[in-house]
Amino acid sequence: MDFFSPFGPLIARLRLPQDMVDRVNEYADTMTSPDKSTEFLLPTDFVTAGGERSLAHHTGNLVRRYLKRAEDSRVERVDFDVFWVVSQYAGTPSPVHFHSGDIAGVLYLKVPDIDADEEERTYISGRQAGYINFLIGGKQRLSKSLVSFKPQVGDFYVFPDWLLHVAEPFRGSGERRSMAFNAVVGVEES
Ligand SMILES: [Fe+2]
Repeated sequence: MDFFSPFGPLIARLRLPQDMVDRVNEYADTMTSPDKSTEFLLPTDFVTAGGERSLAHHTGNLVRRYLKRAEDSRVERVDFDVFWVVSQYAGTPSPVHFHSGDIAGVLYLKVPDIDADEEERTYISGRQAGYINFLIGGKQRLSKSLVSFKPQVGDFYVFPDWLLHVAEPFRGSGERRSMAFNAVVGVEES
């Protein structure tokens, strides 16, 4: 039996090179605390440092690849509104939200040790603790409205800015650290 699921937004997952993860973590280590959840913006000079090896250049290429694959469009320019880091410890939620711009993304920089029994625990509607949960529309028979991914260090998710997502609080130890971006994209008219 073949299954087809041609509708709905495309979510891309790519693996970012470890040296880039390390570089963002090095900066974030100076801004985070070992026991208190926090958020902060990444300064523009950090994001653009390194020219072709910069975070902005690399992320821009991911956005181009994503749009080429998702809608076969050629991207003329990618402008980043903002890059920011979210550092969370046990019990801190990221409520359901969307981003702004055109294309958004989230990169996992650190993952906590989630208590073993959390793997079995789900919130209402099947959202899993500590996972990223993408939501669309309402629940309908034979049409999925939620997908959950377990964060792994280096995994970079790219998706449309309007796509709702949520991370429920986890029970466990250690830090859940992620970096997000919002990008405005200029696409070549065909
Ligand atoms: Fe988000």
